[in-house]
Amino acid sequence: MSQNGWHRVDPADVPDDGRVRSVVVDGRTVALSRCGARLGALENRCPHQGGPLGEGSIEKGLLRCPWHGYDYDPLTGKPPEGFSDGVAAYRVDERADGVYVQLPPLRTEVRTVADVMVETLVAHGVTRVFGMVGHSNLGFADALRRAEQRGELTYIGIRHEGAAAFAASAYGKLTGRPAACFAIAGPGSTNLLTGLYDAKLDQSPVVAISGQVPSKVLGAALSKMSTCLRCSRTWRCRPPRSTVAATTRSSRRWR
Ligand code: FES
Repeated sequence: MSQNGWHRVDPADVPDDGRVRSVVVDGRTVALSRCGARLGALENRCPHQGGPLGEGSIEKGLLRCPWHGYDYDPLTGKPPEGFSDGVAAYRVDERADGVYVQLPPLRTEVRTVADVMVETLVAHGVTRVFGMVGHSNLGFADALRRAEQRGELTYIGIRHEGAAAFAASAYGKLTGRPAACFAIAGPGSTNLLTGLYDAKLDQSPVVAISGQVPSKVLGAALSKMSTCLRCSRTWRCRPPRSTVAATTRSSRRWR
């Protein structure tokens, strides 16, 4: 129940002093923290690369993102002096019957490029996706979630990208129909290669989909910024003919 956007937080989710946690409120996740007598609630998405702030920690009174260590004021969402990016902060009210957070109205969902990619996969008969979600493929992962909610496909999470590629290859061999494997940029995508080569050897229909870093940091000689095309050339094993590699950011780089 909510009134004017105020939502009651489950008492079991309210953090102890000096702690932050991810809390689901009205179906949305916020980073709820307690510093001294005060509670703060921030949008759970770090403005740097989307890290989950609720999984971070309170360090010297600041909320530290678990991914790359950016700090924010846990009450206001402002960064330390000298930095410009901040996080949306929500109002918090401690009442006699519990803690309340005021959230803005839900945004209307818009159809994204990732939605179109997923719709295209489904239209071509891909109804099983094996993969791993990470910060470079979150948009596509969200589109997969929406398609799964519509009953159009099944997403199977795996613990290593190699398993995703082998699972997709096995699915194709057993059913004759294509499945997709799905990974993040850089090392996640290169981990797909062994399973993709298995698909090539047995002519199994597999679609490989990868996230990608922003174009401006490509080619910086870091593993996170490698492209699968370059790796496949280095290894002298081009992706199988039946495999389509795509990226959520720039499909041209994969041609
Ligand atoms: S995603 Fe939060 S610091 Fe990079």
